[in-house]
Amino acid sequence: KNLAIFVSGGGSNFRSIHNASANGLIHGDVVVLVTDKLGCGGADYARDHDIPVIQFPKLRDSLEGLSPTDLVIFLRKLKVHYILLAGFLKLIPIELIQAYPRSILNIHPSLLPAFGGKGYYGLKVHKAVIASGARYSGPTVHFVDEHYDTGRILAQKVVPVLANDTAEQLAARVLREEHQVYAEVVSALCDERVVWREDGVPLIRSRD
Ligand code: GRF
Repeated sequence: KNLAIFVSGGGSNFRSIHNASANGLIHGDVVVLVTDKLGCGGADYARDHDIPVIQFPKLRDSLEGLSPTDLVIFLRKLKVHYILLAGFLKLIPIELIQAYPRSILNIHPSLLPAFGGKGYYGLKVHKAVIASGARYSGPTVHFVDEHYDTGRILAQKVVPVLANDTAEQLAARVLREEHQVYAEVVSALCDERVVWREDGVPLIRSRD
């Protein structure tokens, strides 16, 4: 399966998926890296590994960057099956969601629906978790709809919040689990082990 990864930052989830695909743990290839920030760490990594990098969305008054319609055309040309958001901070336009139904995933660093939505990104998420007194946090992988962090949940991992955690310490503990769970889910997706219950809930079938 062909994968497009969308990144705005350092891209450690992107790297872990790329590694898992290079090692044959994921039966899929990263064929393009889409970013709103051409200078981000994820884009540098892609260029170092000969993965094409494209800019999206188009910045105001700029000739650079694709429009949503052009992006869909471009991804179809590359025969992209799945889109994986990995720290991509822009909202995904409806054109893309309609063109790729049940095929766009995101990873979020809290147990959704808690601590999700616009404004909950980066360390802000972990600060809010600690301030709430929650004892557990952890990553959520979910399908993407037209809002931030509200699509169907596919997988979660529980990570303890320790008594004297800083947001940075909690973020690092959650990030290690993110790498694991995202790779597992993408492996299932590429092997067509994600099935949809009649009521619209996605489930992962274990390997036979
Ligand atoms: C991760 O915490 C992810 O859950 C969130 O953005 C962060 C991206 O980190 N959506 P990285 O760029 O993959 O290191």
